Amino acid sequence: MGKKILLTGGAGYIGSHTYVALVEAGHEVVILDDFSNAREDVPERLELITGKPVTFHRGNLLDPATLDSVFESHKIDAVVHFAAKKAVGESMQIPLEYIEVNCAGLIALLKRMQAAGCFRLVFSSSATVYGEPKVVPIPEEAERFYTSTYAYTKLMGEQILEQLAAADDRWAFGTLRYFNPVGAHRSGLIGEDPNGIPNNLMPYIAKVAVGELPALNVFGNDYDTPDGTGLRDYIHVEDLARAHVLSLEALMERGEGHVLNIGTGQAYSVLEMLKAYERACGKHLPHVIAPRRPGDVPVLLARVERAAQVLGFRAEHGLDDMCASSWAWISRLRNAKAR
Ligand code: WQD
Repeated sequence: MGKKILLTGGAGYIGSHTYVALVEAGHEVVILDDFSNAREDVPERLELITGKPVTFHRGNLLDPATLDSVFESHKIDAVVHFAAKKAVGESMQIPLEYIEVNCAGLIALLKRMQAAGCFRLVFSSSATVYGEPKVVPIPEEAERFYTSTYAYTKLMGEQILEQLAAADDRWAFGTLRYFNPVGAHRSGLIGEDPNGIPNNLMPYIAKVAVGELPALNVFGNDYDTPDGTGLRDYIHVEDLARAHVLSLEALMERGEGHVLNIGTGQAYSVLEMLKAYERACGKHLPHVIAPRRPGDVPVLLARVERAAQVLGFRAEHGLDDMCASSWAWISRLRNAKAR
């Protein structure tokens, strides 16, 4: 039976894809977003995809009036919490802002949920809580450590939820540790569109493909990997969105919390990703070998069995689909601009 779900950060990259998946699963969804890292036209794009009006509140979690307005306007059954700052490099330059938004924001949300009698939350965590993993593929029991302020805020967020659930059994949390989300919605209407020079690999390659950047800088080709470049567990954003629906429904039906890796269990290198994107866009994409990026680890690869056992979740989209969906999105967006 459809529930009323609040998505904080629901106009963002993963939030907007999860919005579509939840509506298609029959739920009623409310978005709260300050649009600090989201295109202003996402709500109308979501209406085009779902064929239904979008309910959204513009505001920030740290503003009590915003949270009051949301929880007084809607009887919220569960929350998916995406709203956070997420750039690893930036987090080292403005650590206090990251801790305030990501940690104080989570605490403010939890307090307002408790006051409203809402005790189900899916938390957007990250493989970055594993730091430099000692065991690969990485199991959920692996030791956690932070290598950036961003990672610290995700680890602290997980620990806040652990403490709360241990103290008060009304709460049930789904903590999802994303590996590397990539790609775009099959409609070509929503996707990742970072401002400026992207930090992450696929959006950077996408900007090379549309001619906005001259070449990909490959951050090191002397790692202990088959082709020397970094290996990552890339997961299609539509698979990731579906994992959120399954996590929410498990929380609401069974009331049991879970902590899960959300990945594919398959890793690809930087050069493999580049070649796959060339197949998707039909162009040669130049690259240069650059120095390693500080903080990078050689391999990030998920153990994925627990998500299959607990949620019945398995990723379905492969690398070529990830690249094809990204290319369809970015080329449509740029053609629209060119007109
Ligand atoms: C992937 C691979 C790079 C850019 C980060 C965050 C993580 C999550 C996802 C938020 C690596 C290489 C990259 C480039 C390159 N973010 N690369 N040239 O670092 O695995 O994860 O983003 O939740 O928390 O840590 O992703 O896409 O930046 O890098 O060679 O211009 O591509 O060295 O091997 P990463 P990424």
